[in-house]
Amino acid sequence: MKKVIFVAPYFMDATERFIDATTKVPDAQVGLVSCDPVTKLPAELQSRLSAYYAVEDISTPQILRGVEMIGRQFDGIDRIMGMLEQIQVSLGEVRDHLGVPGMGAKAANNFRDKSVMKSVLREAGLPCAKHVLADSFQTALDFARQTGFPMIVKPPDGAGAMGIFRCENHKQLTECWAHLNPGPQNPVVIEEFIVGKEHSFDSICVNGQLIWSSISHYSPAPLEVVREPWIQWCVTIPREFDSPHYKPVKQIAQAALSALGMQTGLSHMEWFLRADGSVAISEVGARPPGAQITTLISYAHDFDLYRAWAESVIHERFQIPQRKYAAGAAYLRGMGEGRVSSIHGLEEIARSLGEIVVEAKIPEPGQAPSGSYEGEGYIIVRHPETQVVENALKKIIQTVQVELA
Ligand SMILES: Nc1ncnc2c1ncn2[C@@H]1O[C@H](COP(=O)(O)OP(=O)(O)O)[C@@H](O)[C@H]1O
Ligand SMILES: [Mg+2]
Repeated sequence: MKKVIFVAPYFMDATERFIDATTKVPDAQVGLVSCDPVTKLPAELQSRLSAYYAVEDISTPQILRGVEMIGRQFDGIDRIMGMLEQIQVSLGEVRDHLGVPGMGAKAANNFRDKSVMKSVLREAGLPCAKHVLADSFQTALDFARQTGFPMIVKPPDGAGAMGIFRCENHKQLTECWAHLNPGPQNPVVIEEFIVGKEHSFDSICVNGQLIWSSISHYSPAPLEVVREPWIQWCVTIPREFDSPHYKPVKQIAQAALSALGMQTGLSHMEWFLRADGSVAISEVGARPPGAQITTLISYAHDFDLYRAWAESVIHERFQIPQRKYAAGAAYLRGMGEGRVSSIHGLEEIARSLGEIVVEAKIPEPGQAPSGSYEGEGYIIVRHPETQVVENALKKIIQTVQVELA
């Protein structure tokens, strides 16, 4: 019986799915550490938890305290798990401190700190944007002189494409600098702007070996999506995995994950495909993908990737699923200011695409905007033919309108 502690600061929809899946893994007892009260979870899920400890915040000392308390109750700890990007280094620190197997703080930081990540990748000879960690405007100017505009300015530990700036020229760089006011305590990562189509490469590793992967396409790129709050966008997982465009990323993925220190579990690599067919790795998370991608991969294979992730981490095993469908998500985003007031076009989508819609979260009138690029809701479709999925997503984002007022 494996003794497992799941750390989840707050119970978002996706978090609940991961906790739920973890409690269904055989030969494991699961305790939960969270800032949210356990009573917020469905009663049936609560009954599958063997322990719960409430923490005040998600700092390392608090997580350590929660983990130790449950560890005492369990008389040992085999795994400390959590899918949220922001807590990965803390989880590593707690594992290191307690000698629990799994990713330590150093490797977790390779994934978490975008500047360290790029240095590690470049040192391993892997393609990624040129970058510099800058705490002075002079460093930024020197980088601009060497690399040219446009360039990207971002926090080293960002997530969800928040706080990212694209600077086209000296004036915009100056404005961005004045806005962020970086210094030794809050340096920024400056990167060469990569022109290319954005994708993800989501994979399972067991004991450092990449044993399975899936590729998805973002359309348009997350940066454009955050710059234009009304853009409704899509992620598609094509059914085909043998496109010649994918070859270069498949060739470097194992080396990239090994260089960063991936051991066991899901990782989420973002990468660009340039017009000339070459690739650049953008960033890698040592955690399951967000933005419904874990759900999309599940639908594309008719299996449960939430559960398979938990099982891979707990028991170091993964059964390769068969890809049976293409799947895609259209993210519904409100136009205007205020709360969701009305939604248009749903009847048309139900009539024309109802048969291939497999899951949806329809925004509710009165709902506050999410403030994230995932928007106010989503519609997921799947079909054996990729083209059918692509056409459906296009139709959804053109037809469904969410108004804020
Ligand atoms: N060097 C770059 N060149 C082009 N676009 C970039 C670059 N870095 C980031 N972006 C854009 O910004 C988005 C968010 O950046 P990313 O590094 O993935 O941060 P986050 O962790 O917030 O997702 C990316 O998905 C991409 O669209
Ligand atoms: Mg990203």
